[in-house]
Amino acid sequence: CGIVGYVGTQSAQDVVVAGLKRLEYRGYDSAGVAVLADGGLAAAKKAGKLVNLEKELGDRPLPAGRTGIGHTRWATHGAPTDVNAHPHLDNAGRVAVVHNGIIENFAALRRELTGRGHALESETDTEVVGHLLAEAFSAGGDLADAMREVCRRLEGAFTLVAVHADQPDVVVGARRNSPLVVGVGQDEWFLASDVAAFIAHTRSAIELGQDQVVELSPEGVTVTGFDGEPADVREYHVDWDASAAEKGGYASFMLKEIADQPQAVADTLLGRVDGEGALHLDEVRIPDVELREVDKVVIVACGTAFHAGMIAKYAIEHWTRLPCETELASEFRYRDPILDQRTLVVAISQSGETMDTLMALRHAREQGAKVLAICNTNGSTIPRESDAVLYTHAGPEVAVASTKAFLTQLVACYLVALYLGQVRGTKWGDEIRTVVRQLSAISAEVESVLSTMEPVRELARSLAHHDTVLFVGRHVGYPVALEGALKLKELAYMHAEGFAAGELKHGPIALIEEGLPVVVIVPSPRGRSVLHDKIVSNIQEIRARGALTIVVAEEGDDAVLPYADHLITVPATPTLLQPLVATVPLQVFACELATARGNEVDQPRNLAKSVTVE
Ligand code: G6P
Repeated sequence: CGIVGYVGTQSAQDVVVAGLKRLEYRGYDSAGVAVLADGGLAAAKKAGKLVNLEKELGDRPLPAGRTGIGHTRWATHGAPTDVNAHPHLDNAGRVAVVHNGIIENFAALRRELTGRGHALESETDTEVVGHLLAEAFSAGGDLADAMREVCRRLEGAFTLVAVHADQPDVVVGARRNSPLVVGVGQDEWFLASDVAAFIAHTRSAIELGQDQVVELSPEGVTVTGFDGEPADVREYHVDWDASAAEKGGYASFMLKEIADQPQAVADTLLGRVDGEGALHLDEVRIPDVELREVDKVVIVACGTAFHAGMIAKYAIEHWTRLPCETELASEFRYRDPILDQRTLVVAISQSGETMDTLMALRHAREQGAKVLAICNTNGSTIPRESDAVLYTHAGPEVAVASTKAFLTQLVACYLVALYLGQVRGTKWGDEIRTVVRQLSAISAEVESVLSTMEPVRELARSLAHHDTVLFVGRHVGYPVALEGALKLKELAYMHAEGFAAGELKHGPIALIEEGLPVVVIVPSPRGRSVLHDKIVSNIQEIRARGALTIVVAEEGDDAVLPYADHLITVPATPTLLQPLVATVPLQVFACELATARGNEVDQPRNLAKSVTVE
């Protein structure tokens, strides 16, 4: 969910709604806003996307006020209805609260409140907080005191932001696990899940720590722990501006982000490779002597980041000869994995706040493992809680389906693999320089792929009526196939599956029938040609059974020509790096196919970009 709070001199309704617009990627099931004005509190909330709330406010504007809060929701407890939308108010309508996360003991708290005569009307876990805050406030003290008292009673992960009509120019926030950032402007203060919400007003921000309560008022910002102890605050400068989060003339953020990829890839290499092709990863603060001791690498991630991790496994094992496992973060800690001081855990996350990944890394650190984060969001929770971080410099990614973050995660994974090879001496300087040079050429190659996408778009449109598309690949082409299928599920709501091409004959080949589109990722015919030959046989097998073959192959790979109903060519790259170019046509394919089916690509149904619940 996305949260915004505001205290200042402008119209709170306008600032809050504009902020929510920037946070809609975090959830868009419903939205709401509350404003303090004329000694009272007024609120509006609507199921569905933010436009529904905007329309409601257009018809029935809230009274003008300079203090307010707002929320855009990704439903956990309770269906996305008007009643379940945030903010939630107490019975007297004096307190309003918005929430991101899950309050695990809400059922017990709810029973307790009902027992004391409170009437709760929604199905959400959040509503109890409004009532508890109202009780605590009327027992004495101010809203920040009440918030601290209530937070000490809550279990789970939560970010809360609240206002009380009796403190008309105060907004109070609390943070456990889910993110919350303060924006410091000129006579105005902001609270938000992400700096994007207030970047148009200020680039000065304060990141809140775990278990902290913040009070914004005309006197400024006060931060304490849940116990009331004053906390240190560190103000920092946000180094991207509002235009980086705009569509820049593209029809969707996704199209813009696909087009941003050459730059994003180049930016991620910037400063890490010198003119000689040598690697400098000074940010990796885990001392070399400890990296030399590592005897196993475990990668944890979710969704698209998990696919980047699957590819990293091939690179790490090949270049470092260290055993490497890649595991879904949501499965990791529950199977009691074997970890110790010699395990290096790599947590990959665009947002840096995916709860499954965060919990996996906490578990890893508890067992003594060292954690290196690969992350796109500066100062977010995952890098803050890791031993070291390598930032991907993709810039803000807004579209729910990840594109440029994925490519930069791959670049970062290759850098980590090479760096480990360098430190451990399993790769010689010359070999590293060769790969680094090949990586440096990738940005231009992605650019050239992007310039040849019209036939891919045309093909996508022609397949819009299909129900199923399969993707197959071998080696690193297998995770690419999984990623191609994921994109299609997320965006086109089609049944799409990725398989290891060698597994086809063990089951999935039964799915193939006349005209079924099957996308095949073909590795380079140079180098590991066994791999190439095997997949050419696989294409023949599926084509013989009537599939419509869509072949992604290297330019000049004539061996595939007789079996490709449609050919998509990508520039020649070494096999391990091929995902950087082979994924791009699959992104374009999914985006176009989804558009042809009338879907909204930036905000697919049921999904959210940052999933801050387990
Ligand atoms: C969500 C998004 C996916 C993303 C995954 C991991 O499910 O919808 O696109 O890949 O989270 O996100 P992260 O921010 O950790 O990379």
